[in-house]
Amino acid sequence: MLFQPTTIDQVQTTWREVEQIAPIAAALFYDHLFAADPSLRPMFRGDMTEQGEKLMQMIGAAVQKLDKPRALVHVLEALGRRHHDYGVRPSHYDTVGAALLQTLSMGLGDQFTPAVEQAWVEVYGVMAETMMAAADSSNMAA
Ligand code: HEM
Repeated sequence: MLFQPTTIDQVQTTWREVEQIAPIAAALFYDHLFAADPSLRPMFRGDMTEQGEKLMQMIGAAVQKLDKPRALVHVLEALGRRHHDYGVRPSHYDTVGAALLQTLSMGLGDQFTPAVEQAWVEVYGVMAETMMAAADSSNMAA
C-alpha cells in the first residue's frame, strides 16, 4: 500500500476541511448511501449520530496513517473482518465509495478538483480492497 506524496497530501488536506463540518458530512454521507441503496438501512442497528462519529473518526485515523502503510493495513484488516460480521459484502463497497465521493464533492465544493477526486478514488479503493481481502480470508478460515 504505497501512495504518492501528492496523493497523501491531497487526501489529508481535504479531509481536514471535511472534519470542520464532520456531523454534516456524516449525515450527508448516510443520506447519499441510503438513497442509493435503501436495503442497506436495516444493517445499521445503532444510533446514526454515533455511527457517523465512528465513521468520521475511523476515516480520519486511516487518512493520518497513509504514510505508515503497515499500521494502516492492520487497522483496515480488523475493520474488514468486523464488517464481514456486520453482513457487509464486496458489492457494498462500491455503493459506499460512491456515497463518500458525493459527500466529498458537496462538502468541498471548488476544492474537489479532478486531481483531488482521483486521489480519493485511489485511497478509498485501496482501503476497500484491504478490508475485503481480510474479510475473505476470515471467511475461508471459518
Ligand atoms: C472504508 C470503508 C469503511 C469504513 C472506514 C467504515 C467504518 C466503520 C466504523 C468505524 C464502524 C463502527 C464499528 C467498528 O469499528 O467496527 C462501522 C460499522 C458499520 N459499517 Fe462501516 N465502514 C466502511 C465500509 C462499510 C461498508 C462498505 C458498509 C456496507 C454497507 C458498511 C456498513 C457498516 C455497518 C452495517 C456497520 C455496523 C452498524 C451497526 O452495528 O449498527 N461499512 N463502519
